[in-house]
Amino acid sequence: ARTYNIVVLPGDGVGPEVAEAAVGVLRVIGDFYGHTFNFSEHLIGGAAIDATGDPLPEETRAACVAADAVLLGAVGGPKWDGGKRRPEEGLLNIRKAMGLFANLRPLQVSPVLAHRSPLKKEIVEGVDLIVFRELTGGVYFGEKTRTDTMASDLCIYTVEEIERVARAAFQTALQRRGKVTSVDKANVMETSRLWREVVTRIHAQEFPQVQLEHALVDSMAMHLIRKPRDYDVILTENMFGDILSDEISVLGGSIGLLPSASLGSVGPGLFEPIHGSAPDIAGQDLANPVGTILSAALLLRHSLKLEDEADSIEAAVAAVLAAGATTADLGGALGTRAAANAVIDAIKAIHWASAHRVQ
Ligand code: NAD
Ligand code: IPM
Ligand code: MN
Repeated sequence: ARTYNIVVLPGDGVGPEVAEAAVGVLRVIGDFYGHTFNFSEHLIGGAAIDATGDPLPEETRAACVAADAVLLGAVGGPKWDGGKRRPEEGLLNIRKAMGLFANLRPLQVSPVLAHRSPLKKEIVEGVDLIVFRELTGGVYFGEKTRTDTMASDLCIYTVEEIERVARAAFQTALQRRGKVTSVDKANVMETSRLWREVVTRIHAQEFPQVQLEHALVDSMAMHLIRKPRDYDVILTENMFGDILSDEISVLGGSIGLLPSASLGSVGPGLFEPIHGSAPDIAGQDLANPVGTILSAALLLRHSLKLEDEADSIEAAVAAVLAAGATTADLGGALGTRAAANAVIDAIKAIHWASAHRVQ
């Protein structure tokens, strides 16, 4: 048993509600496995702008880089539109400050939820894929300019930025079904032509046993709806990954289910649901906490190396979804807190069963 320092960044909108739900689950895991999790909350996003004028106060940045892992709710909302600083700036800057170049967004379509997808059940059943989104480069971080009559966002990628995220994706493919689909717009963009070249070389030199295919992002958006089961690891640049992962989220029934892990080569990771601050449902105990709870499982697995603990959260979530104990986005009647409590009860049940297993 050990002590772990976890920084919690609740943020805005539903962020504090889903973060609190995931912290509750982590506390129970700590109790069961005898770990001490020290949680410390810090300001980010709109909440930080309101309190300090800065979406990423220095104090928050320092706490994040010194932590064992960071759990984030969400940032943003209409309240801060048109302001001098934007909440989203805080999120982008903490990703950059922590060197989190790889954003992993896994999706497994639960057989019990396949009917909740707007797509036909037979198309989405059995989908099991993971998006590797490059997170600290591309058009998000290039120079921005603005005059009264024009604006520009520069898209830059270096060979090294492409190599490191490609390696991470190929390594993961080796532990899965051995297939990588690299997504770009090489028919138009120079950064995409470099992307394709580098991914092809890393594959040939280091991972020839993996099956690699390239796809253009527009047709990929179509294929993901037509035959999502064909995909295993999807490797792509920052903005394409942002867009495709929200598209993919509907295959599983709700964007509220999807977790993410943002990782660098060293240091703590940052874990957050893929959804945003959902201003339309904020403050009403309506948000689905599962994406954040599953992000907490990824935190345990990737940053704290607590694999059994991560497995038990995932098993509990699967049991709860199978029992139909869901929030409104999935047709259920539970609020955010009740849904989190259902996961906690399932963790307790799983532990009771394993403690009393007949040998
Ligand atoms: P959103 O993801 O917040 O919401 C899109 C839709 O999905 C809404 O109808 C919302 O109610 C629903 N939804 C989202 N999460 C849900 C959950 N957990 N349970 C049930 N329903 C859920 O996207 P948006 O409305 O385009 O963006 C709102 C704000 O969030 C913007 O300011 C945006 O910049 C920000 N944002 C932040 C993050 C982040 O912090 N990582 C991610 C995406 C968007
Ligand atoms: C996400 C979000 C962020 C992104 C925004 C809020 C900056 O959409 O995490 O998917 O575009 O990366
Ligand atoms: Mn997004």
